[in-house]
Amino acid sequence: MKGKPVIPPVHLTATYKFECSDDLIDVVQHHSGYIYSRWHNPSVVTVEKALAQMEGYDKALGFGSGMAAITTALMAHIQSGSRVVATPEIYGATFEFLNDVLPQYNVETVFVNCWKTEQLLAEIDRGLAVLYLETPTNPLLRVADVKPLARAAHQKGAVVMLDSTFASPVNQHPIDLDVDIVLHSATKYIGGHHDITAGFACCNQPHYDRLWTYRKILGGIMDPMTAFLALRGIQTLDLRIQRHNENAMRIATFLSQHPKIESVNYPGLPSHPDHNIARRQLTGFGGMLSFEVSADFDRTKLFMDRLAVIKLATSLGGVTSLANQPITNTHVALSPENRAKAGISESLVRLSVGVEDVDSLIQDLEQALGGV
Ligand SMILES: Cc1ncc(COP(=O)(O)O)c(C=O)c1O
Repeated sequence: MKGKPVIPPVHLTATYKFECSDDLIDVVQHHSGYIYSRWHNPSVVTVEKALAQMEGYDKALGFGSGMAAITTALMAHIQSGSRVVATPEIYGATFEFLNDVLPQYNVETVFVNCWKTEQLLAEIDRGLAVLYLETPTNPLLRVADVKPLARAAHQKGAVVMLDSTFASPVNQHPIDLDVDIVLHSATKYIGGHHDITAGFACCNQPHYDRLWTYRKILGGIMDPMTAFLALRGIQTLDLRIQRHNENAMRIATFLSQHPKIESVNYPGLPSHPDHNIARRQLTGFGGMLSFEVSADFDRTKLFMDRLAVIKLATSLGGVTSLANQPITNTHVALSPENRAKAGISESLVRLSVGVEDVDSLIQDLEQALGGV
């Protein structure tokens, strides 16, 4: 038949057939083809190649969720007695894994705030197996200065991991910051449409084999349909991120001038404490921001309930704008003391700015604030 599909097919197969035993043996021994979809799947390999190219690493590995990518990468690089240095401003489940799960396997994590570079360097100097960072952070959009930390960790022989979900592969290039393994929740910007749960780890060859083996053993590989949707997301990622960046900048500026807004956290604003690092480290300031309403918890809740175009929902990074109050969901597990330490007040709102017409979003915020 003449003519071939423009769009790659979805390979919904768990297993693969061979013409002869020698071929099967060759694939098992040398990974020269496919044998079982927990190992490799052509749809997953296609999206992995696309993401690796975008991030500038040799390889990418697809996972069934961001957490599958994160936990597999960590498991592959620690052993009993290992020490991890991390920042507490990381995704809640990642914090739980480091703080609650890994100590049961004799792996200790030291947490230092991401803006305390000197203190982080001192902890790195004490020795570590893994430096684990996430930047920009949730929900205050702090930006850690990655390069000096990564260099110090390498001098100690450690592996440097960075969760770059908030920036997406478009706004931040961890390979230029000396990061060994970059992690993404592809549920967010890479998927981009709130319809997949997925993750990626990108790295160069020395880390790839170990990560691949752990993914095979732990079983967290991405499924083929998700790989297809993630590939579709990647094709518009650059376009979408440009729009997220522009919309968020407009909204951050609008909110920072609004009398009913106490403060705005957006790295693109000169008032942000890490604005200078962000200008150096990011190529775009992103679609995420947070702000404090000049109101108590109940009146902030009223503001949330009045939003009409912006949806009240957790998650982020998709075409639709989503807002939530961190203390009611993402940070509900924190004690009031720890919340105060983390700078998360009861009037804080996190906004994932979508790609809608920005004027309709600003009007929505204006009318919702009018009722507070
Ligand atoms: C920064 C960050 N990393 C990791 C994750 C976990 O990703 P997933 O929900 O795809 O497992 C999330 C989820 O919200 C996140 O925001």
